[in-house]
Amino acid sequence: MCDHLSGHRSTCFPIGAEGLAAADLLMGQTRRSTKIHADRLRFVDTLRTKGIYTKVLSTPNLVVYFPVLKGIDPQGIMKESKSHFGKVYSILQDMINERLKLRGVKNDILESLLDYSQSNPSELPIDDVKHFLLDLFAGGLHTVSSTVEWAITELIRNPEKMLKARNELWDVVGGNEQVKESDISRLPYLQSVVKETFRYHPVGPFLIPHKAEVDVEINGYIVPKNAQILVNIWAIGRDSSIWLNPDSFEPERFLNCKTDIKGQDFELIPFGSGRRMCPGMPLAYRMVHLIIATFIHNFDWKPEQGMKPEEVDVSEKFWAVPQKALPLKVFPIKV
Ligand code: HEM
Repeated sequence: MCDHLSGHRSTCFPIGAEGLAAADLLMGQTRRSTKIHADRLRFVDTLRTKGIYTKVLSTPNLVVYFPVLKGIDPQGIMKESKSHFGKVYSILQDMINERLKLRGVKNDILESLLDYSQSNPSELPIDDVKHFLLDLFAGGLHTVSSTVEWAITELIRNPEKMLKARNELWDVVGGNEQVKESDISRLPYLQSVVKETFRYHPVGPFLIPHKAEVDVEINGYIVPKNAQILVNIWAIGRDSSIWLNPDSFEPERFLNCKTDIKGQDFELIPFGSGRRMCPGMPLAYRMVHLIIATFIHNFDWKPEQGMKPEEVDVSEKFWAVPQKALPLKVFPIKV
């Protein structure tokens, strides 16, 4: 990735797409088979562009709130959902078929799932491998790339914080080595940048809808059994009774502070909390730190021609995960 970026010094890169490619690589992409690579690109593209995120996952579906409308499907979401997911599953099936011909070439998630499915077909039928892969990629790619894009955006808007993060990397990792997973625990400022990004730009602003199993009383309010619960962590992250200067990007607030993102500190729960919290958190934690660290350790990033750092756009649009309304485009300058 660094070689790819270094070779295009005068090119303006969409950092979100670079983050997506890096996340895809870290999630075990195999480039040994161009067919599998092409299938994965087709898969990511289908998820991104063909309305799965934009319509199927992002539009509130009236059928959920008024089940009586199920047969009518007034917004056509169920019909579209069937058609889009049909395409996605067929791409995943192609990837599985291709790998079945190439067993043992690579030791990755797909290989492990196929091993398990073949030795325990009743526990993990091949059909469930497809669903598992969809959860993995749909849940894991854009969440990570969007977090990376927001972090780099905020660091570009705050050059002194970018410098602080890079200096820490140079002190701890040095100039000749690439940052490794084992370095993360020795990079408190980088960890603070990531926590601050999760606070300020959570990719799941309402988590995933939950349902009350029983009547519950909270602060004098009754939440009735079966009510759908949306937890507004976006608002919690910007609540001035919890955070000092909540509308400003200040990683320093997390230095020497015990608040963590593991679901125990309810003021910061970007991965949710409890039994249904994000199962990908340990992987996501490593991916987000490694990608951001690699980007800023190796490159200084300059905004598009003529744009001052503070002019870089920070407006949001809601698209399954909230995205930057304008993708961040930046020039990599090798440091
Ligand atoms: C920055 C990265 C990520 C963030 C911020 C994130 C956040 C979340 C959140 C907020 C939820 C809902 C939790 C709840 O409602 O209580 C969730 C669920 C989920 N995430 Fe992630 N996630 C990330 C990366 C990943 C990755 C890398 C994977 C897989 C490799 C993944 C797989 C899933 C799955 C399968 C669920 C559904 C769990 C369930 O319904 O029980 N996520 N994630």
